[in-house]
Amino acid sequence: MDIIRVEGGHALAGAVHVSGAKNSALKLMAATLLAPGVTTLTNVPNISDVHVMGKVLKRMGATIEVVDEHSLAIDTSAVDSWEAPYELVAKMRASTAVMGPLLGRFGCAKIAMPGGCNLGARKIDMHILGLEALGVEFDTDHGYIHASAPQGLSGTTVTLEFASVGATENLIMASVRAEGTTVIDNAAREPEIVDLANMLNEMGARITGAGTPVVQIEGVDELHPVTHRVIGDRIEAGTFIVAGALAAGPEGIEVTGFSPAHLGMVLKKFELMGIDVERTDEGVRVHRARGIRPVDIQTLPFPGFPTDMQAQAMVLSALAEGSSVITENIFENRFMFASELVRMGADIRIEGHHAMIHGVDGYSGAQVTSPDLRGGAALAVAGLIAEGYTEVSAIHHIDRGYEHFVEKLCALGAHVERVAVPDPIDD
Ligand code: UD1
Repeated sequence: MDIIRVEGGHALAGAVHVSGAKNSALKLMAATLLAPGVTTLTNVPNISDVHVMGKVLKRMGATIEVVDEHSLAIDTSAVDSWEAPYELVAKMRASTAVMGPLLGRFGCAKIAMPGGCNLGARKIDMHILGLEALGVEFDTDHGYIHASAPQGLSGTTVTLEFASVGATENLIMASVRAEGTTVIDNAAREPEIVDLANMLNEMGARITGAGTPVVQIEGVDELHPVTHRVIGDRIEAGTFIVAGALAAGPEGIEVTGFSPAHLGMVLKKFELMGIDVERTDEGVRVHRARGIRPVDIQTLPFPGFPTDMQAQAMVLSALAEGSSVITENIFENRFMFASELVRMGADIRIEGHHAMIHGVDGYSGAQVTSPDLRGGAALAVAGLIAEGYTEVSAIHHIDRGYEHFVEKLCALGAHVERVAVPDPIDD
């Protein structure tokens, strides 16, 4: 069992380059199923979620060559199984992203039903309703969803009740091979959806409007393999920006490898908090010369404030000179992180989906547990300016989405190490 141990109080300096976007890479890997042949993805992050998606594809008959640490050549010519098994879906819900491409290419898919997870119920009813409108029939037994389109998929207009990222992606990937035109109304607008549509268009799809609430997909007969570069990870970038805002020395730190336009609302809120964010050609330079001002934040679908930055923003707000409210509108159970931050001295009260935060003067290092991916990273970042040592456990959550997290922090001058500790139950 590994933990991350952080010694607080060391100023950060220099630059950090973020990896490719987890949430883009996973969907692009799934989308390779649509184009028989070898698709090469570059700038793929070396993180455990990508390894799980690799296993899902291999179980279906794909082969994956690791060209270098960040490039995968995925050959989907011989795919002959259309099942995403329980042990992999239970590890990573995003495995359900194979449903759309499997339906697009083979007209059938068998996907383990994702159970509850630590971010709340996380249903996939909108995926199913949308695919049904395209002609897919669903059946469930023994914990599996069986999807099939005996008559093929036919384009139609699908209006999503909520701009779900996963539902938008599954619908795009299914409808690229449908007969006729599909319109997704109230589509999610996240940059990762634009990246997916761009790769599918390079493969020969006809998608317009990605990045807007109305996406139009004209079905085509076949897609061909391509080489595509994954966009930079805006959430990893945002996490390091918070690290810089908290702990950078007078020169600040530079965060590169992503598009600042993908973090518009986050940077705006951080600037309102008194953080200096200078856009550069490569990313941003961040530092802070004054106390943190309180601001209210509510999470919303893109271009709103991302739920995946909520915990990191709370680490800043909890040190502000005054009170703030953070409202979580996307996921239930995404405040579990707050009670861990309270163990480090924060003053936070949760009421429903609102967190009332009263700024304190500083954090005190403590033993804390990662409740989820972003919460775990946020706790380690809080440790950078905590008095004494912070030990973050359950770091398998962090490994899901942050490549070389400890090494990148160390390169900025932080005193952070990954330590193997004996399981207390074995004592
Ligand atoms: C994706 C991201 C995740 C991010 C989230 C919101 C990946 C792998 N994950 O998750 O990091 O936090 O977008 O930006 O890309 N919902 C339903 N029914 C559905 C679908 C969704 O009720 O059929 C609900 C969910 O329970 C949740 C909300 O809608 O409360 C948002 O979910 P969605 O946008 O679909 O997020 P994901 O695609 O799961």
